[in-house]
Amino acid sequence: MPQKTFSIIKPDAVASGKAGKILALLEENGFRIVAARMVRLSQRQAEGFYAVHRERPFFGSLVKFMTEGPVIVMALEREDAVKKLREVMGATNPANAAEGTIRKLYAESIERNAIHGSDAPETAEQELKYFFNTQELEQL
Ligand code: CMP
Repeated sequence: MPQKTFSIIKPDAVASGKAGKILALLEENGFRIVAARMVRLSQRQAEGFYAVHRERPFFGSLVKFMTEGPVIVMALEREDAVKKLREVMGATNPANAAEGTIRKLYAESIERNAIHGSDAPETAEQELKYFFNTQELEQL
């Protein structure tokens, strides 16, 4: 059964012109782009999206980074999408990311790490709903 997950191409990767390469890599890895939109997140949207990290010391900096320029929010689909996306993205810190992963190739630092992907199926559902309506998530 195909599964959906949520992803963001972050401001660092959009600004450095890597969005196309990242999309190509996702497609090469079997992901179908179900929905996608370029958006400049408001402070409120970024704070709400990362609410689970509110108490972390890097929260303020993370919100500032995520609102500094446009991002591309995406609904992606494939078998085992949540787990596979995290494999293709690589470790949060690019210093620890495996060769060939998106973060190894394109991330600048643990914070400016090019891409976000949901960490579990339940999170994917919440995050997809945060940015897309039911119609957008339906099969085209
Ligand atoms: P993401 O997968 O989007 O989830 C939370 C984000 O917080 C993470 O990617 C990074 O952009 C950022 N982040 C995680 N850990 C740190 C850290 N130690 N210092 C700064 N930013 C971090």
